[in-house]
Amino acid sequence: MSIAILAIESSCDETSAAVVIDGKEIKSNIIYTQIATHKAYGGVVPEIASREHLRKISSVVKEAIRVSNVPMESLDAIAVTKGPGLIGSLLVGVSYAKAMAFSLGIPLIGVHHLSGHLYGGIMSAEQLEPPLVALIASGGHSTLVFMKDHLNFEVMGETRDDAAGEVLDKVARALGLPYPGGAALEHMAMEGDRTAIDFPRAWLDENSFDFSFSGLKSSVLNYLNRAAMKGENPCFPDVAASFQEALFEVLAVKSVKACKERSCYDLVLSGGVAANNRLKEMIGSLAAENDIRFHYPPKVLCTDNAAMIGSVAYYKFIQNDFSRSSLNAFANLNLEDEK
Ligand code: KG4
Ligand code: ZN
Repeated sequence: MSIAILAIESSCDETSAAVVIDGKEIKSNIIYTQIATHKAYGGVVPEIASREHLRKISSVVKEAIRVSNVPMESLDAIAVTKGPGLIGSLLVGVSYAKAMAFSLGIPLIGVHHLSGHLYGGIMSAEQLEPPLVALIASGGHSTLVFMKDHLNFEVMGETRDDAAGEVLDKVARALGLPYPGGAALEHMAMEGDRTAIDFPRAWLDENSFDFSFSGLKSSVLNYLNRAAMKGENPCFPDVAASFQEALFEVLAVKSVKACKERSCYDLVLSGGVAANNRLKEMIGSLAAENDIRFHYPPKVLCTDNAAMIGSVAYYKFIQNDFSRSSLNAFANLNLEDEK
């Protein structure tokens, strides 16, 4: 018997709903992005984000059910991102999911946003099963995870300051690119010379799998400020390409090292930054040199979406791991508590 789950994601600036069968088969994955609304402010405005979620959630959920062709009465559970994220945004999804689960008389499953990103990487790979190592690189997180088994996570390292996507967005802004800057910066970098400027790589202690990108960010911003003060016009594509190289080299080297440390030969890249082709190329070639299989999702499963939440929820469903009807939303949430 197959399990059909309707999942809802509203942790940041995407309102999304999906119907997923058995954790892998995506019947629908509707994503309404608020990017155009927040662009004018150069970043996500939490108050506006929650209002936008409220405005769109009903139509996005209805559309997900319509496109899936799965009748509402055939749904087995309602899943929802319970955190981490913007509390006002999360609450919209959580309240909606609670009401739906209650009215349909089916279980409610709260899901950690990062385990969602991780399963976004797993669900698109054929026959990929844990143990595996995952690098989750998004706007809010740079996290290296050893996944021993389904829903069983060990955080090996995380960012001590800015996340990879956050740094990409801030540098992109300094280069005059619109929010969110990751994709625009990738585009600009294609025209640049990656070896033009030697920006610093922060390796931290030899055995650490943590990341720190604020030094790299300052170094790029200082480079641009110094040039401006001298009345020079630096080549922006060179800056973009050299900056990406410094950021991605650290991500690639630490991810492969984490695999070797755990004697694990499957590496998954996920989160919004996983949409970047240069990052995939760098991790891919280093992984191949070390006989590690490298997996990454298609772009639609990299950035925020509900299908990835529906995938995690399937594994929770088969373990009878349901949430109470009093489920709350959490701005901060530990990934290791997902089980
Ligand atoms: O996973 P996500 O959609 O939201 C969070 O959970 O944070 O990630 C958004 C981040 C943003 O920082 C955005 O600039 C970055 O992913 N991003 C990219 C690309 N597309 C999105 N970064 C680099 N290259 C891209 N092509
Ligand atoms: Zn995300």
